[in-house]
Amino acid sequence: MSTAPAAPAASATSTAPAEPVAPAASAAAPAVRHRADLVVLGGTGDLSMRKLIPALYHSDREGRLAPETRVIAMSRGGLTDADFRGKVDAEVRGQVPVDDPAVWQRFLERLHHVSVDVGGENRSGWSALTRLLAGHEQRDRVFYLASPPRTFGPFCRELQDAGLVTPRSRVVLEKPLGHDLPSAQRINDEVGAIFDERQIFRIDHYLGKETVQNLLVLRFANAFLEPIWNSLWIDHVQITAAETVGTPGRRGYYDHAGALRDMVQNHLLQLLTLTAMEPPARNDREAIRDEKVKVLQALRPISGGEVGRFTVRGQYTAAGDMPGYLDEPASTAPTEASRRVETFTAIRAEVKNWRWAGVPFYLRTGKRMPYRRSEIVVQFKDVPHSIYPGGTPNRLVLRLQPEEGIELHIMAKEPGAGEVSLKPVPLSLSFGKTFTARVPEAYERLLTDVLAGNPTLFMRRDEVEAAWRWIDPILDAWSADPALPEPYPAGTTGPAGAHELLGRSGRAWHEEEL
Ligand code: BG6
Repeated sequence: MSTAPAAPAASATSTAPAEPVAPAASAAAPAVRHRADLVVLGGTGDLSMRKLIPALYHSDREGRLAPETRVIAMSRGGLTDADFRGKVDAEVRGQVPVDDPAVWQRFLERLHHVSVDVGGENRSGWSALTRLLAGHEQRDRVFYLASPPRTFGPFCRELQDAGLVTPRSRVVLEKPLGHDLPSAQRINDEVGAIFDERQIFRIDHYLGKETVQNLLVLRFANAFLEPIWNSLWIDHVQITAAETVGTPGRRGYYDHAGALRDMVQNHLLQLLTLTAMEPPARNDREAIRDEKVKVLQALRPISGGEVGRFTVRGQYTAAGDMPGYLDEPASTAPTEASRRVETFTAIRAEVKNWRWAGVPFYLRTGKRMPYRRSEIVVQFKDVPHSIYPGGTPNRLVLRLQPEEGIELHIMAKEPGAGEVSLKPVPLSLSFGKTFTARVPEAYERLLTDVLAGNPTLFMRRDEVEAAWRWIDPILDAWSADPALPEPYPAGTTGPAGAHELLGRSGRAWHEEEL
């Protein structure tokens, strides 16, 4: 349990102690903008420079940051504030729209840098951070750990030793949260010894994607789907996250992660929970997460001999000008772990409850696939009795990327006299075409929620652990199996086994463009 006093409920609608609030800059900005110090461990790293800093700039530009809010990057880099601002100017300015140089300058002035060596002897970084934060105890204090998970516990302890954990503090944990259940529990215990669960925000950036939010609205703000959202009407569900990128420069991480830990344990299982969950009683942080946990707990375990039947793992090999996994540029030579790691996986999962018993949920993710596409495909059953030749069952496609949108494929009659000829036609909602507002990046949404103290879109401890509980037996069976992952040429849709996984029951992966 936390030794810190309980955090005030700090959601935008809370009755938390009066916090001076800056006036909103535009009609579009939310009414409440908390003054905050956002401290990012790993603040000069790849995630920070590609995602967090651009997201914060967008928030600033759109009036969602209070004027006093500061961003304090921590790294071992030995940079001054000026060095860090120069780095952001050089590396981030080109990634974002800078239409008003004064706004960009204002944003740069929010940025600070503190050098720190987590777990090291040198305490000077902590003194520097203490000086910077002194006198600002009434602000929301957000510690964002964009660093390897082994640093989470030590960093939190050092924060506490430095007296920097205030009642208004929160901590954000980036994935991966451990590499199996015991390591995840250890991290949760270590962080939980300093921060109360309500102060801990475990991020899964898929939950910040616009279509993911829309999935909940589609399901729970429309009446027509609920009666057919079950095993009576749905044949199966496919959840795909396909990427064209490989893993250049990431071997150190990826050899010990693999697709199952990197994508399935978090992103794909989160999509599965939102697809399968029961309607929550309220749109609130605990009600939604309670329902998601129940889905994870209802996942039928896959272990031992079943793993070979219900899971597939693959590794890409060189094709054309694309290197294979083992030939990707890396600072170290490939090892046995490199040869054994999966860059692709497909799994046939099942949710054992009244709504879903018997409906397969096929999960698939891979690097170096022919397209970049993340989607949830709900395949309905065929009509009970067809009076026309050539019909195909209805299908609902929720596309997360590259273009966010929703499509329902229905059968229509092709125009013309003579024989009735059927054609599947899409009823489609393209967010880009329907709404003129810019679709925010996932990290923007999530950082806004962290700053507002709203944890609904973050994973609770029991969720993360339930996900590992389901993943671990698959990992165990894979590591006991002497066979290597099935090879698939870079630029293809995965190994033959992935197609057999569905083909055995007469199904096939959805490969159509929207
Ligand atoms: C990250 C994984 O969590 O998600 C990466 O570590 C992956 O390996 C990335 O490339 C995919 O995110 P997105 O938003 O591009 O689908």
